[in-house]
Amino acid sequence: MSTLAKEPIFGELRGCEWMWRWRAFQLLSVTTIQPAFETERLRLRPFVLGDAPVLQRLAGRREIADTTIAIPHPYSLKMAEEWICEQACWVIGGKSVVFAVERKADVQLVGAVGLRNIDREHAQAEMGFWVGVEWWGNGDASEAARGALCFGFGQLGLNRIYAHHMVRNPASGRVLERIGMRREGLLRQRVRKWGVFEDVVLLAILRADWVGDAAAERHGSAPAAVRAGEDASPRL
Ligand SMILES: CC(C)(COP(=O)(O)OP(=O)(O)OC[C@H]1O[C@@H](n2cnc3c(N)ncnc32)[C@H](O)[C@@H]1OP(=O)(O)O)[C@@H](O)C(=O)NCCC(=O)NCCS
Repeated sequence: MSTLAKEPIFGELRGCEWMWRWRAFQLLSVTTIQPAFETERLRLRPFVLGDAPVLQRLAGRREIADTTIAIPHPYSLKMAEEWICEQACWVIGGKSVVFAVERKADVQLVGAVGLRNIDREHAQAEMGFWVGVEWWGNGDASEAARGALCFGFGQLGLNRIYAHHMVRNPASGRVLERIGMRREGLLRQRVRKWGVFEDVVLLAILRADWVGDAAAERHGSAPAAVRAGEDASPRL
């Protein structure tokens, strides 16, 4: 009989350590099924546990929680670690996919972009993103969002990608317009933030719009990041 068979798989590991080993295994699985890809200036890749301190520092700013729904405030290191670990289940379950947004030039993690509520039956998903406050206004969100469109239409085969932003968050609206989304409506008091009901704008882009934009870009009128993401996007 093999000596291996006599050893418990996780040896001396107790409660918490066992859980972390299991989570590390899940994250390894995610990096296998969710490959990284590049746009012109950015690298979009799965989050890894080592990102947790930077994630906590960036997403922990009140300005980030203020115009998002899913990011709690305050945001502890433990929350960041647990969120990263949860990614594995969401990706494996096909429910959502989130990319860490990293600048290629200095390998700096600057934010996140993702597709959630992935609906296979109707081939659609919801886009969300944030960028660390210190890097606002550099075009990172727009470029990362274009990359996520390429991934959603290219690799996931989606037909419609939509997004919401609070009316008082015009920067997000601008990013969504820049990537080709069109306004579909105003959802009155759709969310409650900090105890106050807020109106939300709904925008969306169809695959046909995106293909049309890409065709226009090949003739010189669309942004280069679309071309970069399209060429470099991974095959799942
Ligand atoms: C929204 C957010 C992601 C934008 O990130 P960013 O990297 O600064 O975005 P970009 O630089 O790609 O583009 C921002 C655009 O908004 C415009 N903008 C910024 N503030 C604005 C304002 N108050 N009103 C109108 N437009 C504004 C910028 O001018 C730019 O457009 P332009 O390039 O055409 O001039 C960032 O502010 C953020 O993370 N906010 C908190 C989280 C959040 O709200 N996420 C979105 C949830 S729907």
